Amino acid sequence: MRRPLLERYQEYLPLTEQTPPITLGEGGTPLVRSERLWRELGTSEVYFKLEGCNPTGSFKDRGMVVAIAKALEAGSRFIACASTGNTSASAAAYGAHCGLTTLVLVPKGSVAAGKMAQAIAYGAHVLAVNGNFDRALQLVRELCSRHPATLVNSVNPFRLEGQKTAAFEVIDDLGDAPDYLCIPVGNAGNITAYWRGFRTYHEAGKAKRLPRMLGFQAEGSAPIVFGHPVKDPKTIASAIRIGSPASWKGAVAARDESGGRIDAVSDEEILEAYKLLARQEGVFCEPASATSVAGLLKLAREGMDFRGKRIVCVITGSGLKDPDLAQQIADVPLQEVSADLESVEEAVSSLWGR
Ligand code: F0G
Repeated sequence: MRRPLLERYQEYLPLTEQTPPITLGEGGTPLVRSERLWRELGTSEVYFKLEGCNPTGSFKDRGMVVAIAKALEAGSRFIACASTGNTSASAAAYGAHCGLTTLVLVPKGSVAAGKMAQAIAYGAHVLAVNGNFDRALQLVRELCSRHPATLVNSVNPFRLEGQKTAAFEVIDDLGDAPDYLCIPVGNAGNITAYWRGFRTYHEAGKAKRLPRMLGFQAEGSAPIVFGHPVKDPKTIASAIRIGSPASWKGAVAARDESGGRIDAVSDEEILEAYKLLARQEGVFCEPASATSVAGLLKLAREGMDFRGKRIVCVITGSGLKDPDLAQQIADVPLQEVSADLESVEEAVSSLWGR
């Protein structure tokens, strides 16, 4: 059995004797080597860190397990968050597992179907706010300051502590840090957490070097790239449709201290990477997750030299989170066929010998 995250990285986490050792099987996600993309880039190695393999299908579970364990330790019975979908799914799951009341505020009409299904199935109280994510986060922060509920957004410091373990795993698997770490940026907690994880392991002597951090926002929601908040953020990647990231400073520090970059990619580039990952690598992720690969391809096209480099792209969430998108972008309509062999043979006749 995989070792629970709280146990495996105990010495690097803010745990005490009183912290309950909860787990839903988070962490220990695969680092899969690219079969095709690396050739296109001329690099020696590209890897995908498959965070969609966490129990609720996204990286959020790493931070949530720590935040919920600490909430339980403090005697909390009520947790709350605002979310573009994945945080709410994760909070709802751990809330259910630990018998807590869970409240989630989501921007109305902006959350992918799979994520809504999760929050509902896990029995969370879901409020669809008539506003965007940034407003929902403001509201839940105020709510938690007035009522006895624990805020489990990434402004809760325990969330980032848990999320930094993904960087530990990358180093544990590769034997050192990669040259580049490509990662989507929304509320900017994850890039902050990874950088903290890489630095922590480096200081502990577990890695000889530090990676350059390459963060990517969607063009219509790129406040960090533009240097100012975006009032009405837009992008097909609903998970990162965020105009005023809570961990803005952390992302800028990760970029500058590592000698990296934060850049923007268009929705077209995101969809191109989304398809490429699924069809050429067998990695089905949600559109926000594809921004790490979209950004890598964009920088390569612009002439950045990745030859001989080792690159890790963080694939933050599962493609099953957003089943509608996969169907919308199908190149050919679903073909119906009569239930007899002759019809099936006729339908596939052009495929033989391919
Ligand atoms: N990828 C996915 C799939 C996400 O759900 C998120 C954020 C990100 C990337 C960006 O990570 O915010 O740490 O920079 N989702 C949050 C949510 C906002 O509510 O689920 P970040």
